[in-house]
This record gives sequence, structure tokens and C-alpha cells, in this order.
Amino acid sequence: MTHNESDWSFERLKEFWEKDQLRNIIPQVGQAFPEGFDPKPPLREIFKWSGGGSVVDLGCGYGRLCEAFEPEAYTGVDINPLAVAEARKLHPAYRFEALGSEANLPSGDFCLAYTVFLHMPDQALKPWLESIRKNFKYLLIAEILGRDWRDAAGSTPIFNREREDYAGLMKPFSPALELRVPYQRYVNSHFATMTRNTDISFLLFSENGKLENLCF
Ligand SMILES: C[S@@+](CC[C@H](N)C(=O)[O-])C[C@H]1O[C@@H](n2cnc3c(N)ncnc32)[C@H](O)[C@@H]1O
Repeated sequence: MTHNESDWSFERLKEFWEKDQLRNIIPQVGQAFPEGFDPKPPLREIFKWSGGGSVVDLGCGYGRLCEAFEPEAYTGVDINPLAVAEARKLHPAYRFEALGSEANLPSGDFCLAYTVFLHMPDQALKPWLESIRKNFKYLLIAEILGRDWRDAAGSTPIFNREREDYAGLMKPFSPALELRVPYQRYVNSHFATMTRNTDISFLLFSENGKLENLCF
């Protein structure tokens, strides 16, 4: 099933996530990290390479990834107030805010969107990207790339993109890093027979296409 881009305005997406409650925040496989690895260490490392500062976790869900960052550096935001309430309960040391639109997006140094943008078609995503370019130095998009995933969609709206799609949408920001790790749940699954790629990409964009503090 492929979702039609024009059916999914931002208002409809917001309604979808609110009604979904907490069901599709991660694939329902009964484990905290369906990725097959803990994404917090690579997130911590990439954040450090960017020079650190403050981080906004856009589409934080119930705060599964907040502990990659220090509480004082972190704000998690989500359009689903129930997810935000759950995040506050699970991680009382961290700050979480419910968000109505991109106009309320807090500013910071580093914006993280972990498996969020693939759920938004271009027309809903563009105002968010504009706000991110205005208010942040770095944007890290973490998700599986490949338009062929669109045909594998279930009831959750998905609009996976290619790396080049994001490079076009993010201009004048440009890619500074891409780290790819196999997403174990999908390796050898029926999705792997339908799609070219089952890696999750950590795709970092910056104002000048560079990383402030990259050191090995
Ligand atoms: C697949 S979940 C991922 C949650 C979290 N990043 C994680 O990996 O555990 C997507 C989340 O993004 C939120 N979301 C979707 N579009 C959003 C937007 N434009 N702004 C903020 N949150 C959004 C949804 O409510 C949902 O909690």
C-alpha cells in the first residue's frame, strides 16, 4: 500500500499520531531497540563531533533516546501530548514539551529527527525544515533511506526518501556525515525482498557541510 502525499496534511498527521497514542512510536516487537543495537552511543558521538551545545529531539516520542544527552542540554518535543506526558513520567530529569506547529519549535545547536521525517510528505515537512535551518546549526536525520519503502507501507503513513531528496530539501545546508548501520529487524525480513536497503542512516546536515569537532 502506498500513501498518497496529498492526503496527509500536517493536521491529519498530527491527528494520526494523537489517535495512535503510543502504539507506533517504535515497531511493535516487544523490545526497546528494534534496531538491533542501542542508537544512543552513535548519537552521543555524532553530537560530540558537531561541537555539542543544546539539542532538540524533534518527535521524541516517550523519550527513548534522551539519555544519549545530558539533561541540561536536552529538550524533547512531540506533537503527541500523550507521548510527552509518558516521556516526562519515564525521564523526570529531562525536559519535554508538546508542540502544536513548527512556529513553536525551540531553537538550539543540534536538531535530531529520529524516524520522524519519513512519516511526513514534502508539503508537510518543508515548513519544519525551514524553521530548523533558521534555528539550528546541525540537523541529524536518522531513518531508513529509499523511496521503494513507500510501497511497503502499512497503516502508518510513510514517505521514505533518498539521500539526494534530503540534500535538495535541506539546501543551503549540506551533508556533513552519513553513518549506516543494519536495522536488524528488517535484515532477512520480507521487507528485504521488496527494498534495496535495510540500513538505518544517520544523516547529518550542517550550514557549511562540515563537522566542527570530528576527531577519531
Ligand atoms: C516513529 S516515532 C519515533 C519516536 C522517537 N524518535 C523514537 O525513535 O523513539 C515518530 C514520532 O514523531 C512524532 N512526530 C511526527 N511528526 C512530528 C512533527 N512534525 N513534529 C514533532 N513530532 C512529530 C510522532 O508523534 C511520534 O512520536
